[in-house]
Amino acid sequence: MLNVRIEAAIQKNICTTIGAGPAPDGLRNAINYTVFPGGARIRPTILMSVALACGDESPGLSDAAASAIEFIHCASLVHDDLPCFDDSALRRGKPTVHRAFGETTAVLVGDSLIVNAFATLAAQAAHAPKRAPELITYLAKYTGFPHGICAGQAWEDESVIDLASYHLSKTGALFIAATQMGALAAGHDPEPWQELGARIGQAFQVADDLMDVLSNDQDIGKPVGQDAKNNRPNAVTEYGVEGAKKLLNDVLGGAIASIPSCPGEAQLAKMVQMQSSRLMSVHQTHPHA
Ligand code: IPE
Ligand code: IPE
Ligand code: MG
Ligand code: MG
Repeated sequence: MLNVRIEAAIQKNICTTIGAGPAPDGLRNAINYTVFPGGARIRPTILMSVALACGDESPGLSDAAASAIEFIHCASLVHDDLPCFDDSALRRGKPTVHRAFGETTAVLVGDSLIVNAFATLAAQAAHAPKRAPELITYLAKYTGFPHGICAGQAWEDESVIDLASYHLSKTGALFIAATQMGALAAGHDPEPWQELGARIGQAFQVADDLMDVLSNDQDIGKPVGQDAKNNRPNAVTEYGVEGAKKLLNDVLGGAIASIPSCPGEAQLAKMVQMQSSRLMSVHQTHPHA
């Protein structure tokens, strides 16, 4: 099963980077608290599914790429929850890292995971001297500035915010990284894989914006109503609930057709269909009182 392989890869790569020995236990415990148990692990699942559809000819490299992308994602959540960003108390059904370990440790957890993500890929350089640096370049592009999560979070400080650009950088970027790095790890050209990642990523954030209005804390393991509380631009304010649902449908409607031709295309289409149905099930939720 794919999720067993992904958990094993994350476990292995976090051990090689955080390891044993004389290091501060507080930070080590907080890193483990952040990464385990995980959430849906959707980004490594997409990365690995694309790698498999492309032949997965270098499984150790796919494992490292899947781990690295999840480390970046986990880091982004820890930083996003800090009082200076969304000031959130709950994540994945438990206290956020700064609530459990303090703010200074939470900043360092995010920093460590970002560095360890790149270290995980760098460790593959001996086996994959061409592809490992390429994977590092793609991951850096979609993590930093001007196209990555850092840029996405920085939109929140601007007086005029374009919703599509905000969503594309803060969330879409890492989904594009997932499809492109999956292809790259398996030796395929990453460029044709941009659209699939962008579509799933946009849909994912629109669904998250809908859940912020339609769901409840227990069901999603994090506080709802955050976008209104923090005055964040979001799909519901911009288009209304029905408009956001329509956007979600439209974006996902083109996802399967955007899968580039590859040996495992049919199997990958099933995965995309499954993820799409999951995201669209937000439609069945009704506004909470
Ligand atoms: C949450 O991402 C942040 C957004 C981009 C909306 P996920 O919903 O993938 O978080 P986990 O990893 O499953 O908790
Ligand atoms: C995505 O935005 C978060 C990141 C870029 C890390 P949100 O702020 O909407 O995500 P949640 O709702 O906190 O998971
Ligand atoms: Mg945020
Ligand atoms: Mg947030």
